[in-house]
Amino acid sequence: MSKVKDQYEAYPYPERDPKDEKKRLITGSPSHPLEVDHFLFGGQRDWSAGTRILVAGGGTGDALIQLSQTLTSAGKEYEITYIDLSSASRKIAEARAKARGLKGITFTTGSLLDAAEYGPFDYIDCCGVLHHLPEPQAGFDALAAALSPEGGLGCMVYAPYGRSGVYPLQEAFRSLLKGLPPKAQLREAKSIFAELPSGHPFKSNPHLVDHKASDAGFYDLLLHSQDRPYSIDQLSQTLGASGLRMVGTPQAALYDLSRFAPVPDDMDPVAQMALAEKLDGTIKTHVVYACPGAAPVLEAGKSSRDVPHLKGMAAGALAQKVARDGAITVTLNGVKHRVPIAKSAAKAISGVDGRRDLASIQAGCALDPLAWNAIWQPLHRDLTRFGLLVYSRLLV
Ligand SMILES: C[S@@+](CC[C@H](N)C(=O)[O-])C[C@H]1O[C@@H](n2cnc3c(N)ncnc32)[C@H](O)[C@@H]1O
Repeated sequence: MSKVKDQYEAYPYPERDPKDEKKRLITGSPSHPLEVDHFLFGGQRDWSAGTRILVAGGGTGDALIQLSQTLTSAGKEYEITYIDLSSASRKIAEARAKARGLKGITFTTGSLLDAAEYGPFDYIDCCGVLHHLPEPQAGFDALAAALSPEGGLGCMVYAPYGRSGVYPLQEAFRSLLKGLPPKAQLREAKSIFAELPSGHPFKSNPHLVDHKASDAGFYDLLLHSQDRPYSIDQLSQTLGASGLRMVGTPQAALYDLSRFAPVPDDMDPVAQMALAEKLDGTIKTHVVYACPGAAPVLEAGKSSRDVPHLKGMAAGALAQKVARDGAITVTLNGVKHRVPIAKSAAKAISGVDGRRDLASIQAGCALDPLAWNAIWQPLHRDLTRFGLLVYSRLLV
């Protein structure tokens, strides 16, 4: 544990400057409240009742700030516990929260292995952390034990194939540089890296860029003392061993085996995803949501009271594009996907404002149930599988 702590004391990751809070809000997956609601609460969470949240391994604060700012802006009650081993990271996260005047956060320097002492939680964020634990299963178990029975977890862990080239370099640097302090390791590793041949699998992997972004990025990618990737089936198994069930991912399209080959009738869904991961080859991380195994499956978008939100796109611009081209282009992991969308869906798209429910958008389009379903169902399917459409009553 102490080498990991030393690393993040020397190089808090990702690098963030609290002054930037005045300019922008960093949003992403997991842990945008709208996405959390969609995957874990069927889009029907009553946010007004207050939400207890744990940000486990919160680092420099991206998920913490996203959660806290979004709930504050929506006028919802929450209590967030932030835990991280690194006090240097905590200082940055605290300064970011202060710059925004955010309240309701308790900062703790410690291990997520003790999460249950602070719980139970309605939602736990754990992004980019569990694969760095000496015994990751103990981390999954600790988070599972801290969840309330109706709660859920959003996590990101590294994936093997999209990171091809990373692990032989990590091993080599570990053997050569062990014992040196973090700053000396970085200096030596950069000079060794400069000598690698251009055909090295790392150098020819166009998806790996963090080492160019900052020293902290180089260290996190290539000098980590603990780092094990998970294939999607290993992740599902690991969650299962902690009593959790994987309920969804915002990038479902990436794990769709039918992109590559006909899907055998009797193949179980996780085995399909695992094959798609191998065939895709570009998946660097898995973002998944999981809930206690006994919790009922809640599927968003089934009720006419559900409120749709578009992610990363303005409804007006999307509606115009669909009306003109009958398709959109979505880039996932640097790969462009052309997604056909019926031009007749443009009016329904323009009605999505995060406040109107499906019944009200249908009424605005003046469509009977049959015509509405013929438009909305394919739109729902095609946008949700790319994480572009989620349901939540957060703003209602
Ligand atoms: C790659 S950073 C990710 C930070 C943040 N979750 C994010 O996504 O921006 C990993 C963080 O996990 C923290 N960490 C590692 N092991 C931990 C543990 N056992 N308990 C709490 N924090 C831990 C590190 O200190 C570091 O800040």
